[in-house]
Amino acid sequence: MPLVLGIETSCDETGVGLVRDGVLLGDALASSMDEHARFGGVVPEIAARAHLHALQPMVRAALDRAGVGFGDLDAVAATAGPGLATAVQVGLAAGKAYAMSLGLPLYGVHHLAGHAAVDTLEHGPLPDRCVALIVSGGHTSLLALGDLARDPITHLGDTVDDAAGEAFDKVARLLGLPYPGGPAIDRAARDGDPATIAFPRAMAGTYSFSFSGLKTAVARWLERHDGPVPVADVAASFQEAVADTLSAKSVQACRDHASDTLLMVGGVAANSRVRALTAERCAAAGITLRVPRPSLCTDNGAMIAAVGDLVVRAGLPPSPLTLGIEPNAVLRSALISPEGR
Ligand code: KG4
Ligand code: ZN
Repeated sequence: MPLVLGIETSCDETGVGLVRDGVLLGDALASSMDEHARFGGVVPEIAARAHLHALQPMVRAALDRAGVGFGDLDAVAATAGPGLATAVQVGLAAGKAYAMSLGLPLYGVHHLAGHAAVDTLEHGPLPDRCVALIVSGGHTSLLALGDLARDPITHLGDTVDDAAGEAFDKVARLLGLPYPGGPAIDRAARDGDPATIAFPRAMAGTYSFSFSGLKTAVARWLERHDGPVPVADVAASFQEAVADTLSAKSVQACRDHASDTLLMVGGVAANSRVRALTAERCAAAGITLRVPRPSLCTDNGAMIAAVGDLVVRAGLPPSPLTLGIEPNAVLRSALISPEGR
C-alpha cells in the first residue's frame, strides 16, 4: 500500500502527516498562533515566514515518528487552497520540491476535503453517502458527500456572511478574550449559564447559515449592559445559539436527504457544546454522528495526507507540477483542479 506525505500550510499551522491505507503513521504540527495573538488575527506574511521555518523540521519529525525515511514515500499531497495565498504558496511549493526531487506524484488537495477526510483515520472509511457539516474559521457548509475521492460534492447550504469560527473569534474579541476565540469561549462558557441571554437563532435559508446578526446582537447586548460583564454567561449563551443552529440544520439536512450519518468537521467541531448538543440530537433522530477527536478537527497535516491516501488508492491522476494555488477555491472535489476556479 502506498505511503503518502501530506503538507498543510493554509493558515497558521504547519502540519505534516504520513498516511498509509487509512492509517495515520506519524504527524507533526507547528503553530505560529502566538505570533498573531497580539494582532487579534492571522497576519499572512508572518504565517508564511513561519511555515518556511517550520516545514522541513516538521517533515523530519513526522518521518521520525512514523519510523520511515524519504525513500519509503510513494506520493506527496499538499494543500493548494483555499487559504491565505502566501501561506498556501509555501506548502504547495515545498510539496512540489519534495515530489520533484524524490520522483513522486504530487496531489494538490482542497483544504476542506482534508477536514472531511481526516475522520477516516479515526473512524474508518466513510459510508457510500452522508451529510457533512464543515465548520471552520473561514467556512461553514452543509454538504452531501458521496465517494470523497471520486464524486463531485454538492453544497446544500453555506453561510451567507460570517463563518462559524469567525463568529467565535469576533465575539471573543468583544468579550476581551484572546485569539483564537473559539477555544477561549469554549473555556469561558464552562462557568456560564447558557440560558442567561436568549440570543437570536438566525435561520437564513433552510440549510444556509448567518452569524453576523448574532455577533451584532452580542455587541448590542454588551453596549446596553451596565456594570461588570458576565463574560462566562455571555460566552455560554452565544455558544448555545451557535450549537443550536448548527445541530438543528444538520439534523434536518440528514432527515431530508435520508442520510443516516452526519459527519461534523473543522475547527468549530472541536467545540464541546457543539459536539454535545449535536450528539444528543443525532441520537434522538437515529443518526450516526461522526466527529474526529478535537486535535484532528483543527488544521493539521494528517488531514491532507488522508485525502492523498484516498485519491491515490482511487487511482486518480496526479496534479501537474504547474498547478497554482487557489486561495478562494470552492469545495467541489477533493483535489484542486489545474484549470483553476
Ligand atoms: O479548521 P480550522 O482549524 O482552520 C480553518 O480552516 O479555518 O478552524 C479554525 C477556527 C477558528 O475560528 C477557531 O476559533 C475555531 O476554529 N475553533 C473553535 C474551537 N477550536 C477552534 N471554535 C469553537 N470552539 C472550539 N473549541
Ligand atoms: Zn481548516
